[in-house]
Amino acid sequence: MILNLIGYMASGKSTIGRILADKLNYEFLDLDDYIESKEHMSVRAIFKSKGEIYFRKAETKYLKDLLETQENLILSLGGGTPCYNNNMNLILESDNANAVYLKASIPTLVNRLKNEKSKRPLIAHIESDDVLTEFIGKHLFERAPFYNMANLTITTDNKGESEIADELVDKLF
Ligand code: S3P
Repeated sequence: MILNLIGYMASGKSTIGRILADKLNYEFLDLDDYIESKEHMSVRAIFKSKGEIYFRKAETKYLKDLLETQENLILSLGGGTPCYNNNMNLILESDNANAVYLKASIPTLVNRLKNEKSKRPLIAHIESDDVLTEFIGKHLFERAPFYNMANLTITTDNKGESEIADELVDKLF
C-alpha cells in the first residue's frame, strides 16, 4: 500500500511520515526530496529558474512514477500536490493507494511557517505575520476541497507527532 500524506505546508507530513514508516516497517519518501534528486535542483531553484508550471508538471510525473512502481511506502506529498493536474483523483483511483489529510489550524500553520519561509518559494517573500496569516487563510480555503477528498482526516493541533502516527495506524489498519 502507498499511504500518501497530504496537507498544507508545515502540517507535519514529513515528520509524521518518517515515524509512521518506522512503525509500519514501510519505506518513506518525501515527494519534494524525490523531485530534487531527479531534477538535480532544489525546489526553490526549480521555481526560480524554470517556474511553477514546470514544477507542477514534474510533480505529477514523479507522483505517477511512484504510484506505479512502489509498494509499502509512506509518501509525503508537497502542500500543493493534491491541488493540481488531477493528482488527487490519480491517488484515489489507484488500486494500491490511500490519502490521509493532516489537518492543522491556521494559527498553528502561521506559527510554524513564520520561521520556515525561506525554503518555501510560495511564501518566502511575505514579511509580516499579519500578511502571512491572511495568505494562509485564503490559500487553505482554496485548497480545502482537494484536501477534503482524502480517505481519512486527522486533526493535528495540540497532539504529539507519535500520538498522531498512532491515531493514524489505529484508524487505517
Ligand atoms: C508547496 C509546498 C512545498 C513544495 C513547494 C510548493 C505548495 O512542500 O512542494 O514549495 O504548493 O504548498 P511542503 O508542503 O513540504 O512545504
